[in-house]
Amino acid sequence: KGKRAFVAGVADDNGFGWAIAKSLAAAGAEILVGTWVPALNIFETSLQRGKFDESRKLPDGSLMEITKIYPLDAVFDNPDDVPEDIKSNRRYAGSTNWTVQEVAESVKRDFGSIDILVHSLANGPEVSKPLLETSRNGYLAALSASSYSYVSLLKHFLPLMNPGGSSISLTHVASERIIPGYGGGMNSAKAALESDTRVLAFEAGRKHKIRVNTISAGPLRSRAAKAIGFIDTMIEYSLANAPLQKELAADEVGNTAAFLASPLASAITGAVVFVDNGLNAMGVGV
Ligand code: NAI
Repeated sequence: KGKRAFVAGVADDNGFGWAIAKSLAAAGAEILVGTWVPALNIFETSLQRGKFDESRKLPDGSLMEITKIYPLDAVFDNPDDVPEDIKSNRRYAGSTNWTVQEVAESVKRDFGSIDILVHSLANGPEVSKPLLETSRNGYLAALSASSYSYVSLLKHFLPLMNPGGSSISLTHVASERIIPGYGGGMNSAKAALESDTRVLAFEAGRKHKIRVNTISAGPLRSRAAKAIGFIDTMIEYSLANAPLQKELAADEVGNTAAFLASPLASAITGAVVFVDNGLNAMGVGV
């Protein structure tokens, strides 16, 4: 029987979430996605109008099918958390049931269970500010959207996950090395995400036989990365200095996610897996 995946953090065809969905689809999984509420309309419209058809192509020539798109805002766990200004916001008012708990309930009602959970989302409102200039609110918002969002997602989806299932998030080497420019507390958010990967691997492994891993990805020119502002510099730096001197393709991360979600990785849990052309292993640039 085919596996079912829920991929949170897909809003266009440029990011890691899209590439992961494709690799999972190519391996035979049924794909459900969670799309950030403010981005939902444009994503659905573009998909319907065939704007992504070229990038929906799988290796066998067929097009990736997304069985269902759920609106999601991963900084809210349930309706009680949602402040008035968001509730009445024009971009949110058109959708319902987009808090983490409600999305998990909807997926359970619609499909019963899933096998694979992917968290491919992050947000740091002050990411372009150095840590010394980051406000408390900006720092906590980065942790809420980029780290706790994963704890919450896994917590609410675990009861729907079949034993033997697998969960994957995306992290960045700024968690453990100094990457000037990766500001706003996003370095801390990724450090939390990696530490939580280990603790969650223990808890979800013991309780539900679910594996929990995170992929530390090299630079990709996604929408989120362009917003940070120094992605081209990072790509050039990697090209110049990494052991493998090629640009990272989102598919390479997608394929690693498919491996980690498969029985081929049945003893891998609590791991940070680098998919970065080896850049993290360098001590100095050459
Ligand atoms: P992306 O822009 O394709 O994905 C980020 C997604 O997060 C977007 O679809 C956005 O709508 C969604 N999002 C933001 N706030 C949200 C919220 N509150 N609730 C639900 N969804 C929300 O960009 P990318 O780069 O593919 O990011 C995916 C993951 O990869 C992130 O965790 C990022 O930190 C990580 N990553 C990216 C690298 C890069 O160079 N692009 C390098 C290493 C890690």
